[in-house]
Amino acid sequence: MHPYLGKFIPQLVEWFLARFFRPKDVILDPFMGSGTTLVQANEMNMQAIGVEISPFNCLIARVKTAKYYIAKACFEILDIEKGTALFSNALLGSASNDLSLFPEERGGFCRKSWQH
Ligand SMILES: C[S@@+](CC[C@H](N)C(=O)[O-])C[C@H]1O[C@@H](n2cnc3c(N)ncnc32)[C@H](O)[C@@H]1O
Repeated sequence: MHPYLGKFIPQLVEWFLARFFRPKDVILDPFMGSGTTLVQANEMNMQAIGVEISPFNCLIARVKTAKYYIAKACFEILDIEKGTALFSNALLGSASNDLSLFPEERGGFCRKSWQH
């Protein structure tokens, strides 16, 4: 998502969490950074709280730890992608619409599952 250089390697966090904590434990990371520890804790069914001085890092961590409705997110990503391709084509004067990030899903998979 963003090349945040201060982040821990998730596997390192996973090793420590698995060794010293159990599911449902509450983890506090007082120097949260971009939220690697929080994400890993959530993946291991632990509650996690983070404190961070940088508002930008807080934003990244919030995006990484929010709950998403996957089908809706997929639909919105494809919609943004389509708008970006149209905008790009208008700038470049190209008629091509094939700037797809997820070409295999262009057949309407997301749209169908989102509309169910
Ligand atoms: C090495 S990073 C932490 C990485 C993070 N624990 C992880 O899981 O990826 C250290 C972070 O501490 C933050 N920080 C430094 N001083 C702080 C303070 N006084 N209060 C809160 N956060 C602070 C920095 O902005 C930086 O993002």
